[in-house]
Amino acid sequence: MGLSVDLAPRNPNHLWLTNPVMIASGTFGYDGYGRGITPDMDLSQLGAVIPKTVTRLPREGNPEPRWDPPSYRQALQDGEFILLNSIGLANPGIEGALTDLTPLWAEYGTTVVLSLSADSADQFAEMTAMAEGVRGFQAMELNLSCPNIENGAMFGHSPKLTAAAVKAVRANTALPVLAKLAPNVPDVTEIARAAVDAGADALTISNTIPAMRIDVETRRPVLGAITGGLSGPGLRPVSMAMVYRTAQAVDVPIVGVGGIFSGEHAVEYLLAGATAVQVGSANLADLWAPFRILDQLRSFLGESGITDVSDLTGAVDIRALE
Ligand SMILES: Cc1cc2nc3c(=O)[nH]c(=O)nc-3n(C[C@H](O)[C@H](O)[C@H](O)COP(=O)(O)O)c2cc1C
Repeated sequence: MGLSVDLAPRNPNHLWLTNPVMIASGTFGYDGYGRGITPDMDLSQLGAVIPKTVTRLPREGNPEPRWDPPSYRQALQDGEFILLNSIGLANPGIEGALTDLTPLWAEYGTTVVLSLSADSADQFAEMTAMAEGVRGFQAMELNLSCPNIENGAMFGHSPKLTAAAVKAVRANTALPVLAKLAPNVPDVTEIARAAVDAGADALTISNTIPAMRIDVETRRPVLGAITGGLSGPGLRPVSMAMVYRTAQAVDVPIVGVGGIFSGEHAVEYLLAGATAVQVGSANLADLWAPFRILDQLRSFLGESGITDVSDLTGAVDIRALE
């Protein structure tokens, strides 16, 4: 059964993954950097891991509470579909990550993607140059769409700024570059085209949606930062439509992310036009989720007599609806 996919067919380096199931940035282990992963979790079975986004300088993150509900595991067991977080990109900064974390990433035996967020195109260029030549990752994902820091989605909301960020990174690395787009834009295809024209090898769609809840008894927002980002089941159909629309507009691989909890959800994204998928919130409820989702995807392919997973990409049947 053919499970491998190339996320950078236009880049001489390519980005071949052994299968299309990746771990989404910020959700690898309990802290975004793999805490809780145990030796029996063979990461080499997964297509790729994207550790949490790093910024130029270390960030402490947002005030507590940062999660609503506090336990995603319990919430999902209860059938809750609204999951909010406001971590605020707590991270050790790029210097700390390159020194302390990349040696661990090199041991995973799978593809690792370095996720970057920056305040300006120049800072994206600077961070990319700092990362150049460091071992432990094979591609970069630009987080242009974080709703939980000031101006975190500034790039992803503007075709011009998206292009500037991608160009700045492209000029400083030959590694494959993925641009992670925002869900809350009027026309995702406009941003997607800007990213591709500026040299993005693939697009990751999408990130959390700005969101808020208020406790009516206390009249207090449930999150310490007042607003946060919605992930999980509620995000899935939103992100799905964006993947579908973007696949009609650009000719680079799309990585679908948002609310994937089963192999069937992954198949749905592939049919909509994705080449690969990322599993986010599901990890926070169960660290084995990506392994289970990959098994379910494999079973689906076997039972459907599909010999190559890429046959599913964009294969949604809309004939009767045209
Ligand atoms: C707790 C948490 C932290 C996150 N941190 C990041 C991050 O650092 N960088 C990033 O690009 N996305 C981050 N995300 C967004 C996820 O990577 C993903 O795009 C989003 O959650 C949608 O997927 P899901 O519904 O499977 O969770 C985070 C999401 C959650 C829930």
